[in-house]
Amino acid sequence: MASSAAASAWRRSLRGALLRGSPWRGPAPALAGARQASRTVSAVAVPIKVPPPPRKGRLLTGAMIGLAIAGGAYVSTTDEATFCGWLFKSTELVNPLFALLDAEFAHRLAVSAAAHGFVPREKRPDPPVLGIEVWGRNFTNPIGLAAGFDKNAEAVEGLLGLGFGFVEVGSVTPQPQEGNPKPRIFRLKEHGAVVNRCGFNSEGIVVVAKRLGAQHGKRKMEETSSSSDVKQGGKAGPGILGVNLGKNKTSEDAGADYVQGVHSLSQYADYLVINVSSPNTPGLRALQGRKQLKELVKKVQDARDEMQWAEDGPPPLLVKIAPDLSKQDLEDIAAVALASKLDGLIISNTTISRPPPADAHPLAQEAGGLSGKPLFDLSTQVLRDMYIRTGGKVTLIGCGGVTSGEDAYKKIRSGATLVQLYTALAYGGPALIPRIKAELAECLERDGFKSVQEAVGADFKPLKA
Ligand SMILES: Cc1cc2nc3c(=O)[nH]c(=O)nc-3n(C[C@H](O)[C@H](O)[C@H](O)COP(=O)(O)O)c2cc1C
Repeated sequence: MASSAAASAWRRSLRGALLRGSPWRGPAPALAGARQASRTVSAVAVPIKVPPPPRKGRLLTGAMIGLAIAGGAYVSTTDEATFCGWLFKSTELVNPLFALLDAEFAHRLAVSAAAHGFVPREKRPDPPVLGIEVWGRNFTNPIGLAAGFDKNAEAVEGLLGLGFGFVEVGSVTPQPQEGNPKPRIFRLKEHGAVVNRCGFNSEGIVVVAKRLGAQHGKRKMEETSSSSDVKQGGKAGPGILGVNLGKNKTSEDAGADYVQGVHSLSQYADYLVINVSSPNTPGLRALQGRKQLKELVKKVQDARDEMQWAEDGPPPLLVKIAPDLSKQDLEDIAAVALASKLDGLIISNTTISRPPPADAHPLAQEAGGLSGKPLFDLSTQVLRDMYIRTGGKVTLIGCGGVTSGEDAYKKIRSGATLVQLYTALAYGGPALIPRIKAELAECLERDGFKSVQEAVGADFKPLKA
């Protein structure tokens, strides 16, 4: 504990020196104290001849000092925004190393890095054209992180700090469960795709509620102790937090599972998602049928509405659907969404199909859901279809295969108010986020849109005179 506190004070001191150009005060008191103590001891003890560090060590130390001086010189001649851009760009150097690791191990490492603040923090404001109000909440940009990356809400602050407009945690199941045996995540690198059959590995609602509760408390304290505008954004900070609910593999009452999720987690969520579309939990996708979905939505809405809510009201409720549905299924879901006054649909989860050219990849034969680039066309087609069927009356989140600002723009023009991604982040790393936002802003401005809202469903609107 003491050494980790000392190490973090040391990091803070160095970071402060680099960012503000203030003098670096050297090691933290605990470390400095330890050194002082060792000097005092050696003053009375027989002097020990310390051998010079080996040549390699000297070279490495020299290189690090050189880098620190160069970094310091660079920071002192540049502003915070440029430095921030440089930090994001520099993650591109580390990314290829992640690609060498086992996919799930690399993912664990990435979540851990984000949880411990070892990822860049976006300090530059989002372009105003990207701002959008949805469900009475202000999103500074419409690009979100999809469910499955931070299944247990370990790294919400770090992930929002990367510059996402919103982050969705989960899927969270009521009881903890291991998920399917490993390996269960496979990279189809040549296609920018992934096949996964995680099967809702989850630490369960109790652990996740504890984490979100701690964060919620911290945010409340910041709100009361600050006169600034921290009230902007959602319950988890300046960004918006979605909580995605799942069901346990062995549970026979799916409705009861989702209701448990609502009771434990909805007070921390800016929006809630019923996930009925993972291909890796037996029987789950049958809940997308008209009768089952109608009953499930009613049960969950009732559970949410019976709880006590402050003036900002209960969190909106969304359903996440699969891209592998028949026209009849889509018609049924649209009818339920409209009749139940659902707040939104997320379109889509991974696909059990193997769209070409990814079908030819040897790992395409692995069981599970496919995500990433090859999913883009299929999920966008379902999004377009659903936008038409719901007459633009239900908020849609477009998800599946987004790798660029142009892709996000296509989803928006196809009817999405917000956009999510996952697989592209696994391949592109943090540098992807500012790039996508800048490209999206460019697309909007290029085509004369003054806001994201103006561009939603633009493909279906008559051209402006
Ligand atoms: C490894 C992995 C785990 C996922 N886990 C979940 C999950 O727990 N719940 C969920 O709703 N979606 C989950 N997804 C689906 C994503 O949220 C997203 O819908 C899908 O990957 C398509 O987006 P993408 O092409 O940008 O990755 C997972 C995806 C991947 C790749």
